[in-house]
Amino acid sequence: TSESAWARTPIQPQSVDAPLSRSAVFLTLTLSGHPDAAARARSVLGDLGGLVRAVGFRDLGAHLSCVAAIGSEVWDAVTGLPRPVQLHPFPAVVGPAHTAPSTPGDLFFHIRAERDDFCFELERLILDKLGNAVQVADETVGFRYFDSRDLLGFVDGTENPTGSGMREWALVADGDPDHAGGSYVVVQKYLHDLAAWNALSTETQEKIIGRTKADNVELDDLPRKSHKDLATIVDDDGVEHDILRDNMPFGRPGAGEFGTYFIGYSKDVWVTERMISAMFLGDPPGSYDRILDVSHAVTGATFFAPSNDVLESFGD
Ligand code: HEM
Repeated sequence: TSESAWARTPIQPQSVDAPLSRSAVFLTLTLSGHPDAAARARSVLGDLGGLVRAVGFRDLGAHLSCVAAIGSEVWDAVTGLPRPVQLHPFPAVVGPAHTAPSTPGDLFFHIRAERDDFCFELERLILDKLGNAVQVADETVGFRYFDSRDLLGFVDGTENPTGSGMREWALVADGDPDHAGGSYVVVQKYLHDLAAWNALSTETQEKIIGRTKADNVELDDLPRKSHKDLATIVDDDGVEHDILRDNMPFGRPGAGEFGTYFIGYSKDVWVTERMISAMFLGDPPGSYDRILDVSHAVTGATFFAPSNDVLESFGD
C-alpha cells in the first residue's frame, strides 16, 4: 500500500518499512543448548506483539517498531513451517584484499524508535523473556548522526526505495506464497579506520562513495566504480533491483570504535548477496569497493523475518 509509514499503527511488529528512526538496537542471538530453547524462542516470538505494544503505547510519538527474524539453522526447529525458498546461511566472500565473514546468528531483532529508552526497554524485556534459551552474539546500539550521515561523513540512505517501492522491493510476494509479506534480512557490522579515512582528500572520498560530500549529489562515469555503482544491480533484462537499507552509525570514541551497522531487507536475498560480492570481489574483478580499505566487516548473517500474521501464529 502507499499509505505513509507514519500513518500506520506505530506499534505493530514486523513493520519492515517502519520510518528511519533516531535510535536503533540490532540484536543478534544464538539459541543455547537448553532442551527447551527452540520452543521458548517460538513462544516469545508469538507474544512479541504484546511486548511491543506494552512498551510502545507508553508514548505513541516514540514510534517504537520491532522486526524479528530467524536464521536458517534454527528455522525448522523454531517455526515448524516450510522453509522460505531462498533462506540459507550468509555466504562468506573472500576478495583480493578484504573478506566478508559469515558469523553465527539464530534470532535477530531490529528495534527502532525516536527515543533510545524505548529501544532499551523493549530489548530488556525480550532478553528477559528469552532467558537461558539464548546467548547474545552481538548487540549494537545505533544512533542518527546529523542529517542521516554515516561516520565517514556522507549522507547514507538517499537511494532507498520510497512509498510503495519499499514494500515492493522488501517484501516477498507471489514467488513464495507460504512466506508472502516476509522479508530476507542481511546484516553486516563494519568497523571504520576513521584516521585513515580522514587522511584522504574530500575529492578522493567522493570518488569512493560516488556522491559529493556536502550536498550529496551523485557522481557518474568515474574511472573506477564507486560504492554506489558497485551496489547498483541490473539484471540481464536491464531491470534494476533494489533493497531497503536502514544503516546506522554506532561507536565509542573513548574505545576508538567507529562503525556502520549495515542492514538490508529484500524480497530476493540474491540481490543483497550480489551487492556484497560486487563490493568485495570488484567489478571488473579486482576493482573492489575502496570503502573496504577503511571498513572491516566483523559480522555477516542472514535471517528471514516472517509476516506479522505468521509471527502471531507461533503463539497459538
Ligand atoms: C549507497 C554508505 C555498505 C548497498 C550508499 C551511500 C552511502 C553508503 C554513503 C550513498 C547514499 C545512498 O544512496 O544511500 C555505506 C557504508 C557502508 C555501506 C558506510 C558500510 C561500510 C553497504 C552494503 C551494501 C550497500 C554492505 C549492500 C549489501 C548500497 C546501495 C546503495 C548504497 C544499494 C544505493 C546505490 C544507488 O542506487 O545509488 N552506501 N554503505 N551498502 N549502498 Fe552502501
